[in-house]
Amino acid sequence: MPAETRSLAGTVVAVTGASAGIGRATARLLVEAGAKVAITARREERLTDLEAELGSDSVVWVAGDIADAATNARLVAVALEKFGRLDSLVASAGIGVYGGIVDGTDQEMQTMIDTNFTGTVWGVRSVVPTFLKAGGGDIVIVTSVAGINGGADEAVYAGTKAAQLVFAGAIDRELRESGIRVTALCPAAVSTEFAIGTGRTAGDAWLEDVLTPEDVAGSILFTLQQPRRVRTTQVTMWSAAQGS
Ligand SMILES: NC(=O)c1ccc[n+]([C@@H]2O[C@H](COP(=O)([O-])OP(=O)(O)OC[C@H]3O[C@@H](n4cnc5c(N)ncnc54)[C@H](OP(=O)(O)O)[C@@H]3O)[C@@H](O)[C@H]2O)c1
Repeated sequence: MPAETRSLAGTVVAVTGASAGIGRATARLLVEAGAKVAITARREERLTDLEAELGSDSVVWVAGDIADAATNARLVAVALEKFGRLDSLVASAGIGVYGGIVDGTDQEMQTMIDTNFTGTVWGVRSVVPTFLKAGGGDIVIVTSVAGINGGADEAVYAGTKAAQLVFAGAIDRELRESGIRVTALCPAAVSTEFAIGTGRTAGDAWLEDVLTPEDVAGSILFTLQQPRRVRTTQVTMWSAAQGS
Protein backbone atom coordinates (compact mmCIF):
# COMPACT_ATOMS: atom_id res chain seq x y z
CA MET A 1 0.00 0.00 0.00
CA PRO A 2 1.50 3.42 -0.93
CA ALA A 3 2.23 5.77 1.99
CA GLU A 4 -0.60 8.19 2.63
CA THR A 5 0.23 11.89 2.32
CA ARG A 6 -1.74 15.03 3.00
CA SER A 7 -2.18 17.56 0.19
CA LEU A 8 -0.99 21.07 0.99
CA ALA A 9 -3.08 22.56 -1.84
CA GLY A 10 -5.07 25.52 -0.56
CA THR A 11 -3.35 25.58 2.83
CA VAL A 12 -1.63 28.75 4.05
CA VAL A 13 1.86 28.65 5.56
CA ALA A 14 3.73 31.47 7.30
CA VAL A 15 7.45 31.25 6.50
CA THR A 16 10.02 33.36 8.37
CA GLY A 17 13.48 33.93 6.95
CA ALA A 18 12.03 33.76 3.45
CA SER A 19 14.44 36.23 1.84
CA ALA A 20 17.22 33.62 1.62
CA GLY A 21 18.36 30.05 2.14
CA ILE A 22 16.09 27.47 3.71
CA GLY A 23 13.09 29.78 4.16
CA ARG A 24 13.17 30.93 0.54
CA ALA A 25 13.53 27.36 -0.80
CA THR A 26 10.66 26.26 1.46
CA ALA A 27 8.35 29.03 0.23
CA ARG A 28 9.09 28.00 -3.36
CA LEU A 29 8.38 24.30 -2.72
CA LEU A 30 5.20 25.12 -0.81
CA VAL A 31 3.77 27.19 -3.65
CA GLU A 32 4.76 24.46 -6.10
CA ALA A 33 2.72 22.08 -3.90
CA GLY A 34 -0.32 24.36 -4.17
CA ALA A 35 -0.02 26.19 -0.85
CA LYS A 36 -0.16 29.95 -0.27
CA VAL A 37 2.60 31.59 1.75
CA ALA A 38 2.87 34.54 4.11
CA ILE A 39 6.55 35.42 4.08
CA THR A 40 8.76 37.65 6.18
CA ALA A 41 12.36 38.86 6.57
CA ARG A 42 14.00 42.29 6.85
CA ARG A 43 15.05 42.70 3.19
CA GLU A 44 11.88 43.89 1.49
CA GLU A 45 13.33 43.73 -2.04
CA ARG A 46 13.97 40.00 -1.61
CA LEU A 47 10.36 39.48 -0.54
CA THR A 48 8.94 41.43 -3.49
CA ASP A 49 11.26 39.45 -5.82
CA LEU A 50 9.87 36.21 -4.48
CA GLU A 51 6.33 37.50 -4.77
CA ALA A 52 7.00 38.39 -8.42
CA GLU A 53 8.47 34.93 -9.03
CA LEU A 54 5.72 32.94 -7.31
CA GLY A 55 2.77 35.18 -8.18
CA SER A 56 0.89 37.64 -5.98
CA ASP A 57 -2.12 35.28 -5.76
CA SER A 58 0.03 32.91 -3.72
CA VAL A 59 2.13 35.30 -1.64
CA VAL A 60 1.66 37.97 0.98
CA TRP A 61 4.63 39.54 2.75
CA VAL A 62 5.66 41.61 5.74
CA ALA A 63 9.13 43.15 6.03
CA GLY A 64 10.49 43.48 9.55
CA ASP A 65 12.71 42.25 12.35
CA ILE A 66 11.62 38.82 13.60
CA ALA A 67 12.82 39.72 17.11
CA ASP A 68 10.04 42.29 17.21
CA ALA A 69 6.72 40.75 18.34
CA ALA A 70 4.86 43.21 16.09
CA THR A 71 6.44 41.72 12.91
CA ASN A 72 5.10 38.29 13.83
CA ALA A 73 1.65 39.64 14.69
CA ARG A 74 1.48 41.50 11.37
CA LEU A 75 2.44 38.34 9.47
CA VAL A 76 -0.54 36.49 10.92
CA ALA A 77 -2.83 39.47 10.33
CA VAL A 78 -1.90 39.83 6.62
CA ALA A 79 -2.21 36.07 6.04
CA LEU A 80 -5.72 36.02 7.53
CA GLU A 81 -6.69 39.19 5.70
CA LYS A 82 -5.52 37.98 2.29
CA PHE A 83 -6.19 34.23 2.47
CA GLY A 84 -8.74 33.90 5.28
CA ARG A 85 -6.86 31.10 7.05
CA LEU A 86 -3.47 30.08 8.42
CA ASP A 87 -2.51 26.41 8.72
CA SER A 88 1.20 26.25 9.48
CA LEU A 89 4.30 28.14 10.58
CA VAL A 90 7.82 27.42 9.34
CA ALA A 91 10.19 29.40 11.59
CA SER A 92 13.47 29.59 9.72
CA ALA A 93 14.79 33.13 10.41
CA GLY A 94 18.15 32.96 12.13
CA ILE A 95 21.75 34.13 12.18
CA GLY A 96 25.09 32.61 13.15
CA VAL A 97 27.94 34.55 14.71
CA TYR A 98 30.74 32.11 15.44
CA GLY A 99 33.91 32.43 17.54
CA GLY A 100 35.22 31.67 21.01
CA ILE A 101 33.07 32.46 24.02
CA VAL A 102 34.72 35.82 24.65
CA ASP A 103 34.91 36.76 20.94
CA GLY A 104 32.37 39.06 19.30
CA THR A 105 30.62 41.96 20.93
CA ASP A 106 27.92 41.76 23.59
CA GLN A 107 25.56 43.37 21.07
CA GLU A 108 26.29 40.66 18.46
CA MET A 109 25.52 37.96 21.03
CA GLN A 110 22.31 39.71 22.13
CA THR A 111 21.14 40.12 18.53
CA MET A 112 21.75 36.43 17.84
CA ILE A 113 19.81 35.38 20.95
CA ASP A 114 16.95 37.76 20.10
CA THR A 115 16.77 36.70 16.44
CA ASN A 116 17.08 32.96 16.93
CA PHE A 117 15.19 32.37 20.15
CA THR A 118 13.04 35.41 20.95
CA GLY A 119 11.95 35.59 17.29
CA THR A 120 10.83 31.94 17.46
CA VAL A 121 8.88 32.55 20.66
CA TRP A 122 7.05 35.53 19.12
CA GLY A 123 6.34 33.52 15.97
CA VAL A 124 4.75 30.67 17.90
CA ARG A 125 2.80 32.96 20.23
CA SER A 126 1.43 34.77 17.16
CA VAL A 127 0.09 31.69 15.35
CA VAL A 128 -1.20 29.54 18.21
CA PRO A 129 -4.49 31.43 18.88
CA THR A 130 -5.43 31.01 15.19
CA PHE A 131 -4.49 27.31 15.23
CA LEU A 132 -6.50 26.72 18.42
CA LYS A 133 -9.54 28.37 16.87
CA ALA A 134 -9.15 26.19 13.75
CA GLY A 135 -8.69 23.00 15.79
CA GLY A 136 -5.12 22.38 14.67
CA GLY A 137 -2.02 23.51 12.85
CA ASP A 138 1.61 22.69 12.19
CA ILE A 139 4.73 24.39 13.52
CA VAL A 140 8.17 23.57 12.11
CA ILE A 141 11.07 25.22 13.89
CA VAL A 142 14.39 25.19 12.05
CA THR A 143 16.95 24.64 14.77
CA SER A 144 20.26 22.78 14.18
CA VAL A 145 22.36 19.78 15.11
CA ALA A 146 24.36 22.43 16.99
CA GLY A 147 21.44 22.57 19.41
CA ILE A 148 21.92 18.86 20.17
CA ASN A 149 25.69 18.48 20.11
CA GLY A 150 27.05 21.94 20.78
CA GLY A 151 30.44 22.51 19.22
CA ALA A 152 33.62 24.48 19.81
CA ASP A 153 33.52 28.13 18.76
CA GLU A 154 29.74 28.30 18.52
CA ALA A 155 28.60 28.16 22.15
CA VAL A 156 26.15 31.07 22.03
CA TYR A 157 24.74 30.02 18.65
CA ALA A 158 24.38 26.43 19.90
CA GLY A 159 22.65 27.74 23.02
CA THR A 160 20.03 29.56 20.94
CA LYS A 161 19.45 26.39 18.90
CA ALA A 162 19.17 24.22 22.04
CA ALA A 163 16.66 26.73 23.41
CA GLN A 164 14.56 26.37 20.24
CA LEU A 165 14.79 22.57 20.48
CA VAL A 166 13.57 22.40 24.08
CA PHE A 167 10.93 25.05 23.37
CA ALA A 168 9.65 22.92 20.45
CA GLY A 169 9.43 19.83 22.67
CA ALA A 170 7.62 21.74 25.39
CA ILE A 171 5.01 23.28 23.10
CA ASP A 172 4.50 19.90 21.43
CA ARG A 173 3.63 18.42 24.83
CA GLU A 174 1.44 21.39 25.71
CA LEU A 175 -0.45 21.63 22.42
CA ARG A 176 -0.62 18.15 20.91
CA GLU A 177 -4.08 17.46 22.34
CA SER A 178 -5.31 20.59 20.56
CA GLY A 179 -4.29 19.13 17.19
CA ILE A 180 -1.15 21.24 16.90
CA ARG A 181 1.91 19.34 15.69
CA VAL A 182 5.38 20.69 16.41
CA THR A 183 8.57 19.64 14.67
CA ALA A 184 12.14 20.61 15.54
CA LEU A 185 14.14 20.29 12.34
CA CYS A 186 17.87 19.99 12.99
CA PRO A 187 20.06 20.24 9.91
CA ALA A 188 23.83 20.07 9.92
CA ALA A 189 25.62 22.61 7.66
CA VAL A 190 23.64 23.92 4.69
CA SER A 191 25.09 25.86 1.73
CA THR A 192 23.35 29.22 2.17
CA GLU A 193 24.40 32.81 2.95
CA PHE A 194 24.28 31.84 6.62
CA ALA A 195 27.19 33.07 8.76
CA ILE A 196 29.16 34.36 5.77
CA GLY A 197 31.56 36.86 7.30
CA THR A 198 30.74 35.78 10.85
CA GLY A 199 32.36 32.36 10.81
CA ARG A 200 32.15 31.24 7.19
CA THR A 201 33.68 32.64 4.02
CA ALA A 202 31.86 32.80 0.69
CA GLY A 203 33.28 30.16 -1.63
CA ASP A 204 34.56 27.88 1.18
CA ALA A 205 35.23 24.59 -0.61
CA TRP A 206 33.62 22.49 2.15
CA LEU A 207 30.27 24.21 1.51
CA GLU A 208 30.12 22.16 -1.71
CA ASP A 209 29.72 18.96 0.31
CA VAL A 210 26.96 19.99 2.69
CA LEU A 211 23.16 19.97 2.48
CA THR A 212 21.41 22.34 0.07
CA PRO A 213 18.53 24.60 1.14
CA GLU A 214 16.32 22.51 -1.15
CA ASP A 215 17.29 19.33 0.76
CA VAL A 216 16.05 20.93 3.97
CA ALA A 217 12.95 22.44 2.34
CA GLY A 218 12.07 18.97 1.01
CA SER A 219 12.19 17.60 4.52
CA ILE A 220 9.94 20.41 5.80
CA LEU A 221 7.43 19.63 3.05
CA PHE A 222 7.54 15.92 3.86
CA THR A 223 6.79 16.72 7.50
CA LEU A 224 3.82 18.94 6.66
CA GLN A 225 2.47 16.35 4.22
CA GLN A 226 2.22 13.61 6.84
CA PRO A 227 -1.36 12.52 7.59
CA ARG A 228 -2.74 14.17 10.73
CA ARG A 229 -2.40 10.96 12.75
CA VAL A 230 1.41 11.18 12.33
CA ARG A 231 3.55 13.52 14.46
CA THR A 232 7.16 14.12 13.46
CA THR A 233 8.67 15.70 16.53
CA GLN A 234 12.36 15.84 15.62
CA VAL A 235 14.33 15.44 12.41
CA THR A 236 18.12 15.53 12.11
CA MET A 237 19.75 15.85 8.69
CA TRP A 238 23.34 15.42 7.52
CA SER A 239 24.81 15.30 4.04
CA ALA A 240 26.44 12.05 3.01
CA ALA A 241 29.86 13.76 3.08
CA GLN A 242 29.60 15.27 6.56
CA GLY A 243 30.87 13.62 9.71
CA SER A 244 28.35 13.54 12.55
N1 LIG B 1 23.06 27.22 6.93
C1 LIG B 1 23.40 26.34 7.88
O1 LIG B 1 24.50 25.77 7.88
C2 LIG B 1 22.40 25.96 8.92
C3 LIG B 1 22.55 24.75 9.60
C4 LIG B 1 21.63 24.40 10.59
C5 LIG B 1 20.60 25.24 10.89
N2 LIG B 1 20.47 26.43 10.23
C6 LIG B 1 19.37 27.30 10.62
O2 LIG B 1 18.55 27.48 9.48
C7 LIG B 1 17.86 28.72 9.60
C8 LIG B 1 17.92 29.43 8.26
O3 LIG B 1 19.27 29.66 7.92
P1 LIG B 1 19.77 29.71 6.40
O4 LIG B 1 20.87 28.76 6.27
O5 LIG B 1 18.62 29.65 5.48
O6 LIG B 1 20.43 31.18 6.42
P2 LIG B 1 20.31 32.42 5.43
O7 LIG B 1 20.37 31.99 4.03
O8 LIG B 1 21.31 33.40 5.94
O9 LIG B 1 18.83 32.96 5.72
C9 LIG B 1 18.50 33.49 6.97
C10 LIG B 1 17.14 34.14 6.89
O10 LIG B 1 16.81 34.69 8.18
C11 LIG B 1 16.41 36.04 8.01
N3 LIG B 1 16.76 36.84 9.17
C12 LIG B 1 17.95 36.93 9.81
N4 LIG B 1 17.88 37.82 10.81
C13 LIG B 1 16.61 38.29 10.81
C14 LIG B 1 15.92 39.24 11.61
N5 LIG B 1 16.51 39.88 12.63
N6 LIG B 1 14.62 39.49 11.34
C15 LIG B 1 14.01 38.87 10.31
N7 LIG B 1 14.59 37.95 9.53
C16 LIG B 1 15.89 37.68 9.78
C17 LIG B 1 17.18 36.52 6.78
O11 LIG B 1 16.49 37.60 6.18
P3 LIG B 1 16.94 39.13 6.21
O12 LIG B 1 18.42 39.18 6.32
O13 LIG B 1 16.40 39.67 4.93
O14 LIG B 1 16.25 39.70 7.40
C18 LIG B 1 17.10 35.28 5.89
O15 LIG B 1 15.87 35.27 5.21
C19 LIG B 1 18.53 29.49 10.74
O16 LIG B 1 17.67 29.46 11.86
C20 LIG B 1 19.80 28.70 11.01
O17 LIG B 1 20.18 28.75 12.37
C21 LIG B 1 21.33 26.80 9.24
